[in-house]
Amino acid sequence: MSAAAHTNNERAADARALDRSVVLVGLMGAGKSCIGRRLAQRLGVNFVDADAEIEDAAGCSIAEIFEKYGEEYFRDGERRVMARLLSEAPGILAAGGGAFMNSETREMIRNKAVSIWLRADLETLHARTKGRTHRPLLNTGDARATLQTLIDERYPVYAEADLTIDTGIDGPTMTCRRVLEALEQHMGAPLTASDP
Ligand code: S3P
Repeated sequence: MSAAAHTNNERAADARALDRSVVLVGLMGAGKSCIGRRLAQRLGVNFVDADAEIEDAAGCSIAEIFEKYGEEYFRDGERRVMARLLSEAPGILAAGGGAFMNSETREMIRNKAVSIWLRADLETLHARTKGRTHRPLLNTGDARATLQTLIDERYPVYAEADLTIDTGIDGPTMTCRRVLEALEQHMGAPLTASDP
């Protein structure tokens, strides 16, 4: 048996399936949905986008929720949806940018999941969110300045995540690979793709 095959066999023997959900946190435009989808595919687990779940539960878009009921109402729904998603089978969960700012949600994530902060700089976030209109916080005023304010407010809190991966440097394939490597290191074992 070649050395490489031997290593692969050892890897397979140690490998285990994901036993906790992975929650991706970070600002709008950090790539939580894009990386989350890829990661879920690699691991053969479900991908859930918390924003889409909130929209389904409310029967309207996030922009409409903000407009009709205000941000506080949205945050309350977000907290409840996150609690529900965290009680479901392990999978990859992309949290909305503000979800991790809620201390109750943060505590729940700490107890039940592994959190990964996808960190990106202002230029990357601005370039990726420019021209998109579905994010109410960026629809009024100077979106670049808003993103800078959110960076200042939120990055110290996002830094509480279990792992931090810089995005915006590599393309999604490489970023996903780096996320998976960091996750496996954190879990102390290679992760297998579970049966579909
Ligand atoms: C928000 C981020 C959005 C969405 C809402 C508020 C935030 O999600 O939840 O517009 O407060 O940062 P994404 O980070 O998935 O864009």
